[in-house]
Amino acid sequence: MKNNLSNIKKAKFYLDKKECIGIPTETVYGLAANAYSNLATSRIFSLKKRPKHNPLIVHYHNLNDLKKDCEINENFLKIYKQFCPGPITFVLKLKKKSKISKNVTNYKSTLAIRFPSHPLTRSLLKELPYPLAAPSANISTKISPVSKEDVKDEFGKKIKFILDGGRCKVGLESTIISLINKPKIMRFGGIEAEKINKILKRKIKFLHKNKKIITPGQGKLHYSPGIPISLNKIKPLTDEAFILIKKRKLSDKNYFYLTKNQNLKEAARNLYKTLRMIKKKKYKKIAVEKIPNKGLGQAINDKLIRASKK
Ligand code: TXA
Ligand code: MG
Repeated sequence: MKNNLSNIKKAKFYLDKKECIGIPTETVYGLAANAYSNLATSRIFSLKKRPKHNPLIVHYHNLNDLKKDCEINENFLKIYKQFCPGPITFVLKLKKKSKISKNVTNYKSTLAIRFPSHPLTRSLLKELPYPLAAPSANISTKISPVSKEDVKDEFGKKIKFILDGGRCKVGLESTIISLINKPKIMRFGGIEAEKINKILKRKIKFLHKNKKIITPGQGKLHYSPGIPISLNKIKPLTDEAFILIKKRKLSDKNYFYLTKNQNLKEAARNLYKTLRMIKKKKYKKIAVEKIPNKGLGQAINDKLIRASKK
């Protein structure tokens, strides 16, 4: 605990100096900076090599802090009560008097926000007089990090501090829901779409059906280990890494289990770690067993499909 306290102090020290640091969340590690500062947020874009038009998610400690920057509505409150803090991001209307840097929103009138549940990051947010802008702590289009070591892998000495919160429990990014007009899911993630449908008592559309790309994270190449991935395979070719979710009688050293009993929560938690490991082992191709397209399976498939685009 004492160690955690001094690490939170260190984290605050760098953030106050407008530096970017790595922070743990329950979904993936974030590359965090003061969301009210133009300098701090511009550093996120250059470190990540992220296109300027791709807006950032802002992380808050509590509702009162959020209300300084965003308009909230009834649908927001319903979902908030059920799932926050937790792996869900809301797109809301930005207040005119908000201090959020224009870099974060790319001059738009909406803001993506969330309340991460990781206890260390919650303690850090509580100490700060500003919210934290934090995209996933990976170089743009690469695999998201789920441990301190992964963040080091991505940025090496380019960032001065990573708050170590252990391995991420969810292992996939947050679900993004826009509440600007009719609710729309903009990214599948840590909270299952079916659960949100239940709370709002309707089937919420996924923006995918709408051709216009509003969330640049929906772009083609994403979460990519940089090698071809083919989906719905029964068996791999000899030189392929094979990703599975069901135990086989016979398996070889190129078999990588996300889970052995189709536990999708466990599979989600292991996805990015496994992709990173396969890449490190220098496989040139990946085959993936069929994964049911429901619950967290929807998010896993979505990430794999994007990663498999060349
Ligand atoms: O789990 C997560 O959400 C992680 C952790 C670190 O919190 N963060 C994360 O951030 O995944 P990032 O930047 O890798 O993905 C954020 C996505 C991007 O695809 C971005 O385009 C979208 O959110 N986004 C941000 N602001 C938006 C807005 N105002 N409207 C629509 N989409 C937005
Ligand atoms: Mg990302």
